[in-house]
Amino acid sequence: MSKMWSGRFREPLDAAFESWQRSFPFDVRLLPQEVAASKAHALAITAAGILSDDELEKMLDGLNRVIPFSIEEASASVGTTDTALQPHLAAIVALAPQAEDIHHFVELQLTKLIGDLALKLHTGRSRNEQIATDMRLFVRDAIDQTLEGILAWREALVAQAEASGEAVMPSYTHLQRAEPVLIAHWLLAYVSMLERDFSRLVDCRNRLNLCPLGSGAIAGATLALDRKIAASVLGFDGPTPNSMDATSDRDFSLEFTQALSVLGLHISRFAEELTLHSTAEFGFLDLPERFSTGSSAMPQKKNPDLTELIRGKAGRLQGAAITLATIIKGLPLAYNKDLQEGQEPVFDASDTIHGILSVLPSFTQALSFRVDAMKTAAEKGYLNAMAAATYLTHKGVPFRKAHEKIGQAVRLGLETGRELNQLTLEELRGFGEEFGEDFFASITLEATLDCHDVIGGTARNRVQEAVSGARKRVESDKSSLASKKSAKLAEERTTVV
Ligand code: ARG
Repeated sequence: MSKMWSGRFREPLDAAFESWQRSFPFDVRLLPQEVAASKAHALAITAAGILSDDELEKMLDGLNRVIPFSIEEASASVGTTDTALQPHLAAIVALAPQAEDIHHFVELQLTKLIGDLALKLHTGRSRNEQIATDMRLFVRDAIDQTLEGILAWREALVAQAEASGEAVMPSYTHLQRAEPVLIAHWLLAYVSMLERDFSRLVDCRNRLNLCPLGSGAIAGATLALDRKIAASVLGFDGPTPNSMDATSDRDFSLEFTQALSVLGLHISRFAEELTLHSTAEFGFLDLPERFSTGSSAMPQKKNPDLTELIRGKAGRLQGAAITLATIIKGLPLAYNKDLQEGQEPVFDASDTIHGILSVLPSFTQALSFRVDAMKTAAEKGYLNAMAAATYLTHKGVPFRKAHEKIGQAVRLGLETGRELNQLTLEELRGFGEEFGEDFFASITLEATLDCHDVIGGTARNRVQEAVSGARKRVESDKSSLASKKSAKLAEERTTVV
């Protein structure tokens, strides 16, 4: 009876096939989720009359001991005394070569702890709904952790924006200098992306928060279970509405990895910009030494390994989302073993993003911009040409014509090695009689910034408002995450299980 399904079989499994199809080597990390879902199921089947109160007590006590017991067994085999689960996962896998998957493992451990009573736990449930539940619980936790990380990075960006005050830099289109912007404005562009990433993950969390337990193998549990019991014990908003969907749905994994793929794209753009900015050619940035590495060959080098590695890891996040979508494409309803392959991309994406977000906020905090070099770059190369053309439109010149006239002024500047403010009024008047003495005041750096006086523009007053708005949203998201976290802890403390 070592398998969960051996009754109808006469032949043993081919040894290579048996070990190859196991998911325990990777789904071992669902141990906490599997135990929590099992406790919830034990409560539900007690209410349905399958377990007596006494049996429930033994069952819950056994389930509470599965993790410490497994850690203890594993520690003995590797000789450590660490009580955390994570460092023991590989040793736990090695303990149970016969365990097909995490569900089987928990049943085996529980049987060691409480004997045959353990075998009653599988009444009215199927591994198909269990894995769907475990994965939802895993993704929910991974989202919570990612939200914290995003918020920490947002906060670091906002703090840099606040600290940069009215410092300026050139902005780029086509990687050619375009117009001057405040450094804060550039930083807030990333904050906007992150606010969307944050809300995408919050949406995904809201949508996934329904409990598949009670869906059975495909058609619904064969017991009259009150599905609300397990759902509420596990902190779900309620049971899923359709058993066929619930056992084969992985939208939450798709949405999670796809949201991370977009987040990864944003992070990679930031990483790329900083990599460029830190080159001698740009010279905008002093890479923080504690986040950079040297070259074993060239003694002078300080390399942007952090941003490069992030750029690379963003590729992994894309890979996870694509792998998962490819697995699910065309899968007939309901559960199919293919879905087992959908776990590792989720684990990998979750580990990857958590790794990135464990360094990115402090790296961002430690950045020091070479504001003088950035300003010099913003003042050269006719970055005020749009502002100059706009000056002419205020004098009644149609923009198309204004563009042409300023283009001619730029051409003269290029030929004579001067910026627009170094041309004489007479020279300018040669391109149009609308030029007046006030032209020069309208193309200073400040005026060039301030003419973008629209919501979302880089005018100094607009950016100041935007920075304080971004700060307020950081604070309010922080307090809502903190209150959700404390509500979750309180709920865990008061739950009987
Ligand atoms: N290890 C399996 C998975 O991850 C659990 C579900 C197995 N169900 C089944 N009918 N074989 O997908």
